[in-house]
Amino acid sequence: MDLILDSLCKGMACSYAKLQCNHYAWSNLLRTSINPVKRLHIPAGYVASPYYPTPHGGWVAGWSESYRKAALLVSNMTLAEKTNITCGSGYFMGRCVGNSGSAPRLGFPQLCLQDSPLGIRNSDHSTAFPAGITVGATWDKSLIYARGVALGEEFRGKGINVHLGPTVGPLGRKPQGGRNWEGFGADPVLQAVGGALTIKGVQSQGVIATIKHYILNEQEMYRMYNVVQPGYSSNIDDRTLHELYLWPFAEGIRAGVGSVMTAYNAVNGSACSQNSYLLNGILKDELGFQGFVMSDWHAQISGVASALAGLDMSMPGDGLIPLVGDSYWMYELSRAVLNGSVPVDRLNDMATRIVATRYQLGQDKNYPDPNFSTHTQGPTGLLYPGALFSPSGVVNEFVDVQFGHAEIARNISRDAITMLKNVNNTLPLHTNSSFKIFGTDAQKNRHGINSCPDQGCDEGTLGMGWGSGTARYPYLDSPVDAITSRASNVKFYNSDTFPSGLTVAARDIALVFINADSGENYITVEGNPGDRTHAGLNAWHNGNELVKKAAAAYGTVIVIVHTVGPILLEEWIDLPSVQAVLFAHLPGQEAGASLTSILFGDVSPSGHLPYTIPNNESEYPTSVSLINVKIGQPQDTYTEGLYIDYRHFNAHGIKPRYAFGHGLSYTTFSFSNATITAVTPLTSMPLARPPKGATPTYRTTIPPPSEAYWPANFSRIWHYLYSWLKESDADAAVAAASTNTYPYPAGYSQTQKLGSPASGDQGGNPTLWDIAYNISVTVTNVGHYAGKAVAQLYVQFPPGVNYDTPVIQLRDFEKTKELAVEESQVLRLSVTRRDLSVWDTGMQNWIVPDIGGSYILWLGESSDGLNLGCATGWLVCKGGWKSPV
Ligand code: NOJ
Repeated sequence: MDLILDSLCKGMACSYAKLQCNHYAWSNLLRTSINPVKRLHIPAGYVASPYYPTPHGGWVAGWSESYRKAALLVSNMTLAEKTNITCGSGYFMGRCVGNSGSAPRLGFPQLCLQDSPLGIRNSDHSTAFPAGITVGATWDKSLIYARGVALGEEFRGKGINVHLGPTVGPLGRKPQGGRNWEGFGADPVLQAVGGALTIKGVQSQGVIATIKHYILNEQEMYRMYNVVQPGYSSNIDDRTLHELYLWPFAEGIRAGVGSVMTAYNAVNGSACSQNSYLLNGILKDELGFQGFVMSDWHAQISGVASALAGLDMSMPGDGLIPLVGDSYWMYELSRAVLNGSVPVDRLNDMATRIVATRYQLGQDKNYPDPNFSTHTQGPTGLLYPGALFSPSGVVNEFVDVQFGHAEIARNISRDAITMLKNVNNTLPLHTNSSFKIFGTDAQKNRHGINSCPDQGCDEGTLGMGWGSGTARYPYLDSPVDAITSRASNVKFYNSDTFPSGLTVAARDIALVFINADSGENYITVEGNPGDRTHAGLNAWHNGNELVKKAAAAYGTVIVIVHTVGPILLEEWIDLPSVQAVLFAHLPGQEAGASLTSILFGDVSPSGHLPYTIPNNESEYPTSVSLINVKIGQPQDTYTEGLYIDYRHFNAHGIKPRYAFGHGLSYTTFSFSNATITAVTPLTSMPLARPPKGATPTYRTTIPPPSEAYWPANFSRIWHYLYSWLKESDADAAVAAASTNTYPYPAGYSQTQKLGSPASGDQGGNPTLWDIAYNISVTVTNVGHYAGKAVAQLYVQFPPGVNYDTPVIQLRDFEKTKELAVEESQVLRLSVTRRDLSVWDTGMQNWIVPDIGGSYILWLGESSDGLNLGCATGWLVCKGGWKSPV
């Protein structure tokens, strides 16, 4: 593979491609003897039931016009046109990371699919926004949405049709998991709000958002199938699936997301890219998803099985061996339809979903073409770098799409900064103090801010993790640059080893920068293959030693942490000279001024932890450790059920070092005058679902083979993927149709179902979102500094319900504007029917377990700071009740 790529790629710009390609190629080459349909044994009690056929798209009212238009177009498509648009044209076969096939005769273009959730991967003149975990730490809905709009403007500006974000899976079940930082926090509601508002923002610009990775992709190692080993199986019970991991996907679908990307791993033994229960059953029936489902890159492991199970688009299109013109679909899907293995009906639905989504987002009107290349940084280059012989041409037009988004990025990075400790009001600092700065994390990577492909190294300020979820920095405003621009008495030691022989003055303030990194599995950084295997939850580069040595030398030490997730602080957090600790998360390009505005007190910190920080790793349930099984299918069984992160700590009475939602301010707030109003009366089950609307109908007879013949005199690009067949092959396929014996899976059917009672619209039964109670609370700044407060609302279920439920669960949150001293603001929050329900596995529906019972809706500034409760039974809110945490 290296040889092929070496001949194609010149210079550094290709090294990321080689890395990723080597990984995929290895996995793919090893995959040849997999039987994609045969499942391996998983622990007893976990099932992936069959669900067939794929529900037709188009039954939701909000999509009917798009489906009407799509049906007109698709009914005029030939077989080869339909199979062409459902598949990528191959790895490196176009400017973007994914390039679908087109139907130019009908004006349906190739779609450009591009990473990443935090900015445009491998491009130029675009913003490197703060990562999802940073956005989650703001707890600010308006900032989440603003970032989504800005991302949408940038992706559209580069001519990208499909934005490969947001990431809401992984949820953060495993603190060491490599890609938790791409998402918004280890709670389904925080993750759901982050994902849904990002989708709304991105799609407001006409860009199709992609919610990923569906589902239970909670660790990086062993995620992919290969012949030596299948990808791991996440084994989960139905209730935990619904109440935790599916929740953000449901909200994303309710927000109208256009596409869903499947995960690499299996769930309950069946690979996500061909798991009919997940795709046909949950996504397209229960959650009413109307867009299209794409595979993660090279996650597809079968042709017919994946089509029947509900996959609509194969990405990047390659089959067993990438870059050689091999595919599970394209010409093979044409063949499978001609020989009757894949019903025409299924292909029609796949194509219609893709075409309808483009109409739904308005991309049929004035949508720009791609003007950049993910493969190279020069103005010209190969148009199809994966082809055997590729023409060259203009690939990068260097369109500046930053549109002043730096300010949004900076505001998020600033408002995410989470102050964990601030003894004696050490912070904020005066700019005229004497500062000694320690740690390489304080300054840019000395080899260049983009010197590591896909940010696959931990050098200098950590603005993002590594892998496909990254972007190139247009610049990096580093902490040292920002501090020295405001303070004159600064000495920086650009090392992670504490210097010897320092002269320390009593008035010196030490600022110690440490970090912890993680990323995607195709890159290993300092022994960590995506997940934090080697580093564990410790700061990297001996960060603990650096802090301890600084704390031994200086009387005032401020620790600033850039991190992908929780790290252990116990070695130094209680040292007397460690006076303040700031978690700046992953700030993207705006690491500097966002930090100095907090350090020097321009604004008060207002970030809150999007996860729990434990005292030590042994406090987590053992089932959330990384799995490391080298033989057979790794089994990752979710025996902890609903009890992850704070739900686990509360259930076991473990007081963590810092609780989920914790975050200090320079000022103090009081919550008063809370009110609760009943809105929609509860019933034990959601009301009857609306019936499905009509979906497009097409002829379902096998088309003539001529619809898939290679066109005469076509000059092909070798190794590019095409959907045509040789005449003789197409004819033979049709001839085989009458005797075809495709081994359809158990439970296979072609009769459309009425649909689940839990369904009815995008996201599920619409009455699940009926507001049950409105809550308002007056937040007053009673301190001495302007600042923003976050009101977090957690539900405590009534005692004695028949379902084991976590002690408290986040259900809503709101952040104030910046409140001046003594200023107040009324915040309004709400809980829906679903917020007060549990998923009943027998009924297969959401049930309010105690309609008349009193739920307590707790309000506070953190999950362990709940001092105001509202009881739904008596409709009263009171301070002074004993919080359960
Ligand atoms: C694999 C990653 O898991 C996914 O998130 C990404 O969008 C694709 N590669 C494309 O780069």
